[in-house]
Amino acid sequence: MRLRFLYIAFICFFSQSFSQNYEAKVDSLMRLMTLQEKIGQTVMYSGHWDQTGPFVSTDNGKYIREGNMGAMLNAMSVKGTRDLQKIAVEETRLGIPLLFGYDVIHGHRTIFPINLGLSASWDLQMIEKSSRIAAEEASAEGIHWTFAPMIDVSRDPRWGRISEGAGEDVFLNNEIAKAYVKGFQGDDLSQPNTVLACAKHYVAYGAAQAGRDYHTTNMGEGELRNVYLPPFKAAIDAGVETFMSAFNELNGVPTSGNKFTLRDILKDEWNFKGLVVSDYTSINEMIQHGFAADSIDAARIGMNAGVDMDMMGHVYRLHLKKLVEENKVSEAFINDACKRILMAKFKLGLFDDPYRYSDEEREIKTAYQSEFLTEAREIAAASSVLLQNKNDALPLSKTSKTIAFIGPLVKDEYNIIGNWAAKGDRDGKAVSVFEGVSEYLKPKQILYAKGCDILKADTSGFEEAIRVSKQATEIVLVMGEDYHMSGEAASRTDLKIPGVQPELIKKIREANPNKKITLVIMNGRPLNLSEEVNLVDAILEVWFPGTMGGAATADLLFGEVNPSGKLTVTFPRNVGQVPIYYNMKNTGRPIPESNPKEDYKSNYIDIENTPLFAFGHGLSYTKFNYSDLKLSSNKLTFSNTIDAQVEVSNTGSKDGYEIVQLYIHDKVGSVTRPVKELKGFQKIYLKKGETKTVTFTVSVEDLKFYNSDMVYGVETGEFEIAIAPSSEFKFESSFTLIDQ
Ligand code: GLC
Repeated sequence: MRLRFLYIAFICFFSQSFSQNYEAKVDSLMRLMTLQEKIGQTVMYSGHWDQTGPFVSTDNGKYIREGNMGAMLNAMSVKGTRDLQKIAVEETRLGIPLLFGYDVIHGHRTIFPINLGLSASWDLQMIEKSSRIAAEEASAEGIHWTFAPMIDVSRDPRWGRISEGAGEDVFLNNEIAKAYVKGFQGDDLSQPNTVLACAKHYVAYGAAQAGRDYHTTNMGEGELRNVYLPPFKAAIDAGVETFMSAFNELNGVPTSGNKFTLRDILKDEWNFKGLVVSDYTSINEMIQHGFAADSIDAARIGMNAGVDMDMMGHVYRLHLKKLVEENKVSEAFINDACKRILMAKFKLGLFDDPYRYSDEEREIKTAYQSEFLTEAREIAAASSVLLQNKNDALPLSKTSKTIAFIGPLVKDEYNIIGNWAAKGDRDGKAVSVFEGVSEYLKPKQILYAKGCDILKADTSGFEEAIRVSKQATEIVLVMGEDYHMSGEAASRTDLKIPGVQPELIKKIREANPNKKITLVIMNGRPLNLSEEVNLVDAILEVWFPGTMGGAATADLLFGEVNPSGKLTVTFPRNVGQVPIYYNMKNTGRPIPESNPKEDYKSNYIDIENTPLFAFGHGLSYTKFNYSDLKLSSNKLTFSNTIDAQVEVSNTGSKDGYEIVQLYIHDKVGSVTRPVKELKGFQKIYLKKGETKTVTFTVSVEDLKFYNSDMVYGVETGEFEIAIAPSSEFKFESSFTLIDQ
């Protein structure tokens, strides 16, 4: 007792006097710790949060009291986390506080669109704001750490976790990674409304073969360094405090036991000083991978490779001490892991006050604040993408005589907040499309029929739906996926709208050949809409739009908000084209523009190469015109820059946002280069009739890549350049990088 008292006094003194010199405090504390206590810090178990706050199970209480727990996941609520923290602080020898982590991915209580949707806003301020609000709500419930952002580049819509990321492009993933980290961590981690962010899943998880979750990934180091690593480096540049290793094997080595990616690149080359937590039992899974002989071997491999904390695996707690005693794991690695974990706790201020996140008053007043809901509505609208709008079917008019809303997702308040929706309420808090539109049109009534379920092969509701559709002057279909059909362990081999929904769309069109029909689609991945594009007039992609999704959808349908979102993933014509993404390589036999069906070219005999909807695609209720691309010079040197500018005019009848995109093509390289690469974007607002000059500054930094010798650099030669509304364009301008 006396020692603990002295230690706490010592830490409190140091905490006050040298609040920024964490290293000294951590080193002092570690000198007091036994080997097993240091190992205890590397252990993370799960709370039982579903009992309205972590039920202190006998196991958790036991492990904490033994000093065998450094962190918990799925533990929350002020009361619950305080009960657990009390055990750690008051019933262990050194009273080291616990870290509480949780998957706060696209909101905690107030839920924003799924991350693939958020990325389609291309609005870094909005994305940062969404994670700032999530941090406010999560930290108010005792959470110190979120397992986000997920920054796995993904080019395969079969993979369910494409829903959690920022799409197919490296540059956009980099920028969005930084925005999330800033939002979660804020400017000062010692503030109790901030949480540690976690860059996951390190690394290349999104390259799973066949889009099947947890599957093998294989690639050259060049692909790894040019495509999958950059967003993680960007997160470090933004100050991310933690990483999460992944489930997948990479080139034969599981990423939770991969010394090359974890120690050589992350901790040595990038000098990352934060902590690496495994994914859920991903250390143990090296046994199933056939990479570890047993759990002892898995613990050895994990710690030696650079995983600092074992999430739910029970292998570090059980085996590390003996592995150190047998010289199979260096104690220096244990010390390094423990130090990284303690540093995070000091930075959060948990040694100043272990209960600083346990504020009942803040917990009660924070969730679902009206300003949060207002933000969520605005962000959901900005994340939606108008894919098609034939015959100007949208926007609808308030004076429309009768509008029928048909489909299984019209009144949905359950799927609308998507997967990984933390503590988002699925029992009525979310605003359904029906509610949103009814509120907007009141007292006018709308017609409604469910028509069918999302998945069930039951057409018994068709007749009623067709009857209702015939009574309407305009028809809105609200259809899509069930939220379980994307996210973890939710890969699909068929990208069509599920169930009998496609059949119902056909029947509705047959019964109403000349009416304007709009399809609002809720989904967690790019879908194959090849049939639907010919059956309906407008398609509005709202993803799973979150707590305020129905209100945002109403704002868009009736033109209160002009759609501005643009795709960050390619929508294929069918699953056979996958993987398909905008910045592929040219191949030695590209298809000629003049004759896409020419023999002996890199094409298919049954479908064109182009996608149904391209990266960067998104329509507006107004029209934007791009003209007068100008370069300040057609010569770039290693020391100067080039300004590329274009005139963007709003030639339509409505004010609106436009996402202006800069693309580059390195025509010749010591390794082949993508046919085009996004290198910049600006979201501008133009009143109807207004024109703005949009300028991008290009330097050699924008042109760098890893060559075949893994040297990061740039090569002289010709570069094509374009500023465009999407990735669908032809280059018409170029500059030359000269060696000066
Ligand atoms: C899951 C996910 C990971 C999540 C973790 C904790 O399996 O792969 O993204 O953060 O476990 O829930």
